Amino acid sequence: MTARRARGPLSGSVRVPGDKSISHRAVMLGGLAVGETRVSGLLEGEDVLRTAAAMRALGARVTREEDGTYVIHGRGIGGLAEPEDVLDMGNSGTAARLLAGILAGHRLFAVLTGDASLRRRPMRRVIDPLTAIGASFWSREGGRLPLAIQGAESPLPADYTVPVASAQVKSAVLLAGLAARGISRVVERTPTRDHTELMLRSFGASVTVHALPDGGREILLRGQPELAGRPVTVPADPSSAAFPAVAALLVPGSSVTLEGVGMNPLRAGLYETLAAMGADIVIANRREEAGEPVADLTVSSSPLEGVDVPPERAPAMIDEFPILAVAAACASGTTRMRGLAELRVKESDRLDAIATGLAAAGARVAIEGDDLIVEGSGAPPKGGALIETRMDHRIAMSFLVLGQVTEEPLRIDDGGFIDTSFPGFAQLMRGLGAAIDEA
Ligand code: S3P
Repeated sequence: MTARRARGPLSGSVRVPGDKSISHRAVMLGGLAVGETRVSGLLEGEDVLRTAAAMRALGARVTREEDGTYVIHGRGIGGLAEPEDVLDMGNSGTAARLLAGILAGHRLFAVLTGDASLRRRPMRRVIDPLTAIGASFWSREGGRLPLAIQGAESPLPADYTVPVASAQVKSAVLLAGLAARGISRVVERTPTRDHTELMLRSFGASVTVHALPDGGREILLRGQPELAGRPVTVPADPSSAAFPAVAALLVPGSSVTLEGVGMNPLRAGLYETLAAMGADIVIANRREEAGEPVADLTVSSSPLEGVDVPPERAPAMIDEFPILAVAAACASGTTRMRGLAELRVKESDRLDAIATGLAAAGARVAIEGDDLIVEGSGAPPKGGALIETRMDHRIAMSFLVLGQVTEEPLRIDDGGFIDTSFPGFAQLMRGLGAAIDEA
């Protein structure tokens, strides 16, 4: 795909697709609940469709109505059936890791695999705590997929401190804990997105969260709850909204409204950072939908200044560093993004993918340890490069946004992975006035 400089300001009011994290969880919890779960606004991206296919293979009924509502009839906790075939989770780490947690709590045998990107990603981080509750695993070298799982005969409650800041690991352990008799305890040193906790509670589980003196959290889940199917409304994904938002900031004269965007504080780090850089973002109509805060954001083009992003904010914007780095490359002054070790194990090594792509586009960028440093000159870099997207949707979208302001076009080698999280991205962006060609 090719991004050319936008011919004029971006404008319009749009709703980006549903939140990916919440969509995965809605389908999974719907499959574990008794009765009907109706999900509106579900993200129909490839990642979530993989989760839906896996839950079907495990015996849940998952159907789509004409208006895009998904209806799930669950099997109850412990009630999933052994799948007849390998479960292919495609590009999705969330699908693979959360499902590993669910499978660990079921007395069945299953095999998880994924595409070349997912097969490179570390699974030891879920294998270790799930082994402790009684499940057995066989994996490739280094805990890589394909991964065979024999679920626990009688799962033990977990007592686990998550060693990395990862909502996926926390969620996998909590989902396994659903099947155990007794109270599971999960501690995280830095709070990460809490969609699992919020949704479990709304389905009827007893989940208690304590703030710890060191800034961490302790989560207690009572095992073997009766989860009751319920309606879920999925907010627009703040991680997807980030792309049109930054495009509106960068293209002179723009003003774009993003409707119904999820504003969970554990996801909103990008918006806080952009505000500190001088971004004009008006947050209006704050409300709650299905236990999650949402709002409408109006973003107007603004001169941006470099900032220091502290490491403790990283989990609340972990997926937004590629697009923040694009904004930083067009800002004046230095932006230092700190504590980004986890970016190395995303869909690609994002630290390297961002730095290589920005350098190719003519920006000044460096990696120091786990920090990413971007030196903005107050104007966009020159562009005129072919960017390697490395099977990573967010790298692809970030550089298509940067191409809206570079003097020379930016091409990306593969736009196919955008459909994992943001189907219709190019069309939505063109509707706002962006110049993105399919070839
Ligand atoms: C997610 C957690 C994060 C994030 C991913 C979605 C989730 O991953 O990067 O896109 O839905 O729990 P980690 O748990 O690896 O940080």
